[in-house]
Amino acid sequence: MRIDLFELERSQSIWENTVDYNLTESGLHPFTMRELLDAHETEALLDLPLGYGHTEGEPALREAIASLYPGAVADNVLVTTGSSEANMLAVMSLLDSGDEAIIVTPNFMQLPGLAKALGAKVHEVPLRLSGNRWALDLDEVANRITTRTRLISVCNPNNPTGGVLSAEERTGLATLAANHGIALHADEIYRGAELAGAETGTLFATAPMTVVTGGTAKAMALAGLRIGWIVSSQEIIQKAMQRQDYTTIGSNALGQRIALFALQPEKRARIVARNRHLLARNLDQLSQWIAQRSGIFSWVPPQAGAMAFLRYDLPISSDDFCRRLRETQSVFAVAGSWFGMEGHLRLGIGGEPDHFKEALQRLDRFLQDEFGKQAEAAL
Ligand SMILES: Cc1ncc(COP(=O)(O)O)c(C=O)c1O
Repeated sequence: MRIDLFELERSQSIWENTVDYNLTESGLHPFTMRELLDAHETEALLDLPLGYGHTEGEPALREAIASLYPGAVADNVLVTTGSSEANMLAVMSLLDSGDEAIIVTPNFMQLPGLAKALGAKVHEVPLRLSGNRWALDLDEVANRITTRTRLISVCNPNNPTGGVLSAEERTGLATLAANHGIALHADEIYRGAELAGAETGTLFATAPMTVVTGGTAKAMALAGLRIGWIVSSQEIIQKAMQRQDYTTIGSNALGQRIALFALQPEKRARIVARNRHLLARNLDQLSQWIAQRSGIFSWVPPQAGAMAFLRYDLPISSDDFCRRLRETQSVFAVAGSWFGMEGHLRLGIGGEPDHFKEALQRLDRFLQDEFGKQAEAAL
């Protein structure tokens, strides 16, 4: 099978554990088991049989996940190994060779890579800066629909921009999908990691065929559990289950049980509150930092997700920027080109505030060393 190089994931796997400051993470600083679990829960884990368990997900976990999506019940949920498996099963359930998919970009870039590998034709529709937000042009989506279109896919809240679709944009997408009998997929892994305001509205059940993917990695700060999920109609969930029989059979029993503890409403609220606090502090630091370097950087502050997408005005490609920054300062950032957006950088803002502050100091040192006069003039 021919498949595009997944530059973001490959680069992270190679470098993320070798640097002093990893700013490529788009989720929040992970919880430890000690921080997350009480004595009773820890004790219960010691008696958990490490068998296959429920390959589709423990019933109580499927129920807990369903409760995050108004109108969903446990049978609408399939538990997966990370939301990356959820995305893969979604694509495998919805697309065949020769089909067409409309994918809103930039995004995590897993969806376009998988769709193309399956032999589907991908039409990308870009989010565009409009005033102080990343906007989706619904006419552009509509113009891309053909008789072969089987899927419209969005990442909302969006990686890498941190933007959130407006209620009108969500309704517009759902209407287009409904009117043309197309499946609507939304990767909602950053839902629950809003920097302010209400939780992002889900696209689940907004059209006859919706497929929502999510997981514990980002807004829950529990990537290491490797727990994700698909929420969809029972028919699509059955298809996804049949495909999971070929991928991983089922997700891990330990991760499922810990996810169940973490999703209990009180604990989830505590996790979300801690995360919001961290994000607010880092966003504040970054806002001040950017304001003092406005000759180089511009941005639309993120609405959700532990990341900021910065545009820079420097004579260097984003790939070289990130490579040089890593080599000289041991700071690892994401190149905009990995999302097809040259001249941009994505910085993770979900880490510990002191650590983040030090990383920004190193970034300053880099700017000074590499672009001395321009960096000074921008200050
Ligand atoms: C939008 C999006 N979806 C899915 C994933 C993968 O998540 P998981 O770790 O749950 O597989 C990521 C990881 O960065 C992501 O950004």
